[in-house]
Amino acid sequence: MDQIVIRGGQRLKGRIPISGAKNAALTLLPCALLTDEPLTLRNLPRLADVDGFGHLLNQLGCSTTIEGSRPEDFGRVMTARTTTLTSTVAPYDIVRKMRASILVLGPLLARAGEATVSLPGGCAIGNRPIDLHLKALEAFGAEIELASGYVKAVAPGGRLAGGKFTFPVVSVGATENAVMAAVLAKGTCVLENAAREPEIVDLCNCLVAMGAHIDGIGTETLTIEGVDRLHGATYRVMADRIEAGSYACAAVITEGDVELVGAKAGEMEATLAALREAGATVEGTKSGIRVAMSGRAQPVTLSTAPYPGFATDMQAQFMAMATLGTGASLFTETIFENRYMHVPELARMGCDIQVKGRTAVVRGVDHLVGAPVMATDLRASMSLIIAGLAAQGQTEVNRVYHLDRGYERLEEKLQAVGADIERISAG
Ligand code: UD1
Repeated sequence: MDQIVIRGGQRLKGRIPISGAKNAALTLLPCALLTDEPLTLRNLPRLADVDGFGHLLNQLGCSTTIEGSRPEDFGRVMTARTTTLTSTVAPYDIVRKMRASILVLGPLLARAGEATVSLPGGCAIGNRPIDLHLKALEAFGAEIELASGYVKAVAPGGRLAGGKFTFPVVSVGATENAVMAAVLAKGTCVLENAAREPEIVDLCNCLVAMGAHIDGIGTETLTIEGVDRLHGATYRVMADRIEAGSYACAAVITEGDVELVGAKAGEMEATLAALREAGATVEGTKSGIRVAMSGRAQPVTLSTAPYPGFATDMQAQFMAMATLGTGASLFTETIFENRYMHVPELARMGCDIQVKGRTAVVRGVDHLVGAPVMATDLRASMSLIIAGLAAQGQTEVNRVYHLDRGYERLEEKLQAVGADIERISAG
């Protein structure tokens, strides 16, 4: 298996191009199931999860073609066309490897009136149930059965009737599935306490470009008036705010100065506020956001929350940054129950972190020492990279496939701003 080796201590300086957002791509791709016309997505990141999703679409009868697949191209263009659905089943083998596969449930139900999707099961960061996805679809008229590890959803008469659902807990994935199911309903569907993440705005804007009628985009109440059919569209995937935030943390911990090219400040205010709290200079530039730091980070107090709150997907990276802070930082994780798995690995590098239930206290230490560490999930892996960039000596990050799911050409982007980082291929 590949390994990433970092010799820490280099200050990051220069420009980092920010890729298309993984989490937006993973909800825009299944939109191709909603129409028989082509959907062209621009600025798609080159990531294992995006390729995996493409294969799932192929299994359902969607043909995909990719341009811009030269190794030097950032931002690929994929045209996906589902002239006819050849299957409405997302099998266990695919869903098990890629949780986001659950996002074909809504579009298949909308287009074919039925869908059979394997239950995703638990994952490294918690139980992650899908009960809210199913309850929202039921509220719109779907009949749902669970059997042999699969969810089977049927829309009586071939189309969802419409209805109203109030989320008891904000869920990004359940909001996405419900919106994609609703766009072809017979009647009107209303979602209350819907997630407002920028990736959901991206999804809604793409669906509107395909002919959907959605009101309240960007708010917690979405009203979707079903239409008889959607048409094709060309749509550009938004910039990855989590990737941008991750490199910002890397810049702060190395006391660097980077420009995150393509990043949009309006989509990552909570992250930028946290960077300022740590003492970083954060300013908009013509092409993105500049993050610069001199001296060690000041302590931060951060609690994760649904958007526009501080993103759970940024917690591990800020924690890595805080390990070299000037005092004690306090983290509270409110979204996932098991999202501190980076802590024992960071401890191997000399960090002082105490976890108690959902909170973690990080006391800044004078220096970190490189060590062999193991990535446990995507964002936890990035926290190890960030710590490694500032640690004395060599850090070897193992199980790099987690990083490949969500960071496009990580080592290349970091090398270009001065990091001493390389991938050792297993061959
Ligand atoms: C998405 C993101 C992930 C991010 C998370 C929270 C993608 C592909 N993934 O994940 O990177 O960390 O949002 O911002 O976009 N829940 C239920 N029942 C459900 C669904 C969710 O109880 O049916 C709970 C979850 O266990 C969790 C909370 O709701 O505690 C939020 O999860 P959710 O927003 O659904 O996360 P994902 O969509 O899986």
